[in-house]
Amino acid sequence: MALDEQTVLSALRTVHDPDLRQDLVTLGMIRDLAIDGDRVSLRVVLTTPACPLKDKIRGDVEAALEGAGAQAIAITMDAEVRRAPSAQAAGPRGPGAVTQGERMPGVRAVIAVAAGKGGVGKSTVATNLAVALSKLGARVGLLDADIYGPSIPIMLGLKGARPSMNAEEKIAPLQRYGLAVMSMGFMLREDQAVAWRGPMLGKALQQFIEDVDWGELDYVIVDMPPGTGDVQLSLAQLLPVAGCVVVTTPQDVAFADVKRAIAQLELTKTEVLGLVENMAGFVCGHCGTEHAIFGESRIAQHAAAMELEILGRLPLDGVTAIAADQGEPITVAAPDSAAAKTYREIAQAVARKVAIITHERSQAAPKFQAFFAHKGS
Ligand SMILES: Nc1ncnc2c1ncn2[C@@H]1O[C@H](COP(=O)(O)OP(=O)(O)OP(=O)(O)O)[C@@H](O)[C@H]1O
Ligand SMILES: [Mg+2]
Repeated sequence: MALDEQTVLSALRTVHDPDLRQDLVTLGMIRDLAIDGDRVSLRVVLTTPACPLKDKIRGDVEAALEGAGAQAIAITMDAEVRRAPSAQAAGPRGPGAVTQGERMPGVRAVIAVAAGKGGVGKSTVATNLAVALSKLGARVGLLDADIYGPSIPIMLGLKGARPSMNAEEKIAPLQRYGLAVMSMGFMLREDQAVAWRGPMLGKALQQFIEDVDWGELDYVIVDMPPGTGDVQLSLAQLLPVAGCVVVTTPQDVAFADVKRAIAQLELTKTEVLGLVENMAGFVCGHCGTEHAIFGESRIAQHAAAMELEILGRLPLDGVTAIAADQGEPITVAAPDSAAAKTYREIAQAVARKVAIITHERSQAAPKFQAFFAHKGS
């Protein structure tokens, strides 16, 4: 039976992206459709290379085409991360709102990694999340926004490295483990201290963000400094953040800090993608048993009460810190370890949430614009 385009497209309209809850044709995911008699070839362009539903969607497309009578089917699975408007850009414009495209024009989505306090593993999670996304096929950058205590240069074995200027007099990020990397640590000597205060701080941060040529990237992961002070507020306003991963440790007292961090994210209209529970118990290197050295975690109850998703749990282990000190994140040093597997799952969950947020905001944005155009007339 010779198939026509109408029949094939109708069949494809029965296949839905379960996350975006629309059919693949409406979502613009079907490309390069070619029909020759009963042979069909096409490319399915998903919204992230880290899509955990890739195989399911391919299977659904195949079944729909078979149902329509296709005898030979060639499907290429592909992905294009779409540009994530910041929450401010999708909603009414407030003071300090970031317009997409003004900063980091080639970057599709900026993902911050934050916590209300120091030492819980923000830099560790940011680094390994970046590597995991890159291994899943995404083009990834890592911005160390901890201007007072940058740790990314050490964690990636880039101590003492210096970025170069490109032809447009912009700073070219360093390349490591497939990531584009930028840190204030690259601009300072080890014994040098950043002494920005007050209005100078905002200006310097802006330059630090704007003077870097990130090129074309799917995700930039931002390792945020500890705490909930001015630097965090300025950064959240300067960066077009799609969403934020919040890192926490199992103790209740740490969760008080999480609440503070989330309150600040709400101030800057930054969406919380979910929680990563780090140092959750200790896995004994000898017997492999997990010990709850901080007592039983109550994060699950807290998270449920606040309607937050837990993106992953990482135990304290004897390898993560050593690998980091040697300049190799655990996802690079031990790609088959349980920790690396957890980071892959976190990366998939994060990519999925960002794709959903991007879709929702792109649908909401025209409505807001229409509303304000109407109000202004
Ligand atoms: N799951 C883990 N198991 C073992 N060690 C870990 C784990 N996570 C982080 N670490 C180690 O704990 C220390 C603190 O982690 P990290 O620097 O990532 O925290 P941070 O929140 O970024 O700190 P800061 O607030 O100073 O920026 C580091 O030495 C790191 O290697
Ligand atoms: Mg840090």
